[in-house]
Amino acid sequence: AKVSLMQKNGRKISVIAHRGASYLAPENTLAAVKKALETSADFIEIDVHLSKDGQVVVIHDATVDRTTNGTGQVAQLTLEELKELDAGSKTDTAFAGERIPTLAQVLKTVKGKKKLLIELKKGEQDYYEGLEQKTLDVLKAHNATDWCVLQSFYDPILERIWQMDFMIPTHKLMMGKIPFLPIFFDHEFKFGSLDRYHEAAAINIHRHFASKSFITSLHNQGFKTFVWTEDDPKNIQQLFQNGADGVITNRPELIEKP
Ligand code: G3P
Ligand code: CA
Repeated sequence: AKVSLMQKNGRKISVIAHRGASYLAPENTLAAVKKALETSADFIEIDVHLSKDGQVVVIHDATVDRTTNGTGQVAQLTLEELKELDAGSKTDTAFAGERIPTLAQVLKTVKGKKKLLIELKKGEQDYYEGLEQKTLDVLKAHNATDWCVLQSFYDPILERIWQMDFMIPTHKLMMGKIPFLPIFFDHEFKFGSLDRYHEAAAINIHRHFASKSFITSLHNQGFKTFVWTEDDPKNIQQLFQNGADGVITNRPELIEKP
């Protein structure tokens, strides 16, 4: 049976399909996006990188090794080379022939039927030159800016988005919690305050930090919060009781909307 998520006080609860419906189909493929469209998810989360020839492509890692039959860095492969790779068979041979999609292909598949949470990644060594602007250009070309949100772990990426001559919702992804202790975020230990993220609509946190008190403290500072990544329906219910505004899950098919 599916788990029902009761909304309290009319509060809007979002379910976000992580890398598409990634339990049902290989992550970040059009097959996973299509499966997610059939679920009760409100958003579909995908990860983007930039190919050698400057195309925004949908894949989690900076290299193709884990999820495809190829090897090498996304940044060093052209779109044509990336498209030759099989992004399905390694997970499940039933999905042989799935390709690494472009962002444009995902937009044409989703067409605003659900919202898209697009995570901007960095390359193995460096940030991608122009990934932020190119992502926005693709969204504009597909009239998708109204139903897309951009998120990143990396402050330089968020800062570039905030400096662009266009307003689009952004979420900051955080590795740990601040400002109580020196904590691990953005891949190092830092002291800090959340003030620098005032342009972000949400601070998205790891499930290990998603206590009621921490979520309340984010709300009190004016941020919403989506929690990543939780697949156990009981824990998902607990996250909503703790006040999470959304849960990023590989199993959106287990959740029934009230
Ligand atoms: O959406 C948040 C989550 O996707 C962050 O981690 O490694 O799955 O991109 P990762
Ligand atoms: Ca992600």
